[in-house]
Amino acid sequence: MFVTFEGIEGTGKTTQITKLKEYFESMGREVFLTLEPGGSRIGTELRKMLLHVDSKDITSITELFLYLADRAQHIAQVIKPELEAGKVVISDRFADSTVCYQGYGRGLDPKLLHQLNEVAVDGCWPDLTILLDIDVEVGLKRAMTRNMRDGKTQEEGRFEQEHLSFHSRVREGYLTWAALNRDRIKVADASGTPDEVFANIKRLVDTKLAG
Ligand code: TYD
Repeated sequence: MFVTFEGIEGTGKTTQITKLKEYFESMGREVFLTLEPGGSRIGTELRKMLLHVDSKDITSITELFLYLADRAQHIAQVIKPELEAGKVVISDRFADSTVCYQGYGRGLDPKLLHQLNEVAVDGCWPDLTILLDIDVEVGLKRAMTRNMRDGKTQEEGRFEQEHLSFHSRVREGYLTWAALNRDRIKVADASGTPDEVFANIKRLVDTKLAG
């Protein structure tokens, strides 16, 4: 099973991914956690270029191709082999981030991005995508608190420095895209306590496992 988590900054993806990993393990499944950008060796280099605050001069198209390159490598070198080894793979962000950040956020055509994703993903779409949804201001505030705690502002802060209007377009884009892909993308309210949010995610996963 291949599960991905999506959402704007500060939705608490990391906490929920840890909980879902423990849940699968309690059922005796082996879990492989990964992320984008940066899930492969080459991807680690691409991640530095993509997220560093010094990359402000990157064009939208360059940014797009770097994310797609990261994904193609991630799929071929990491995700497919781990799935073939029988593991549950959970990725923190995947193809929908490109549609929502580079598409709805930056203004590139979401349909074109979906076609480019088809090339990068090479037939390996997630079985289930959890979209954690939260108010933009609440999310950004949470992300800022986390970054200060983890000291990550300078190294990986490029997206957090975008305007509120950018993040609002991304959030609305995610909700629109989820409505267009109802079978795969399930929306979970991320405003509650971690346990409340997870209860909802667990329900979505159980439904998928039963189906
Ligand atoms: P990360 O530090 O992993 O952020 P988060 O904790 O919010 O997941 O940084 C990933 C950033 O890259 C995030 O701001 C979203 C952005 N991104 C894109 O713009 N397009 C993509 O295709 C992907 C995978 C990520």
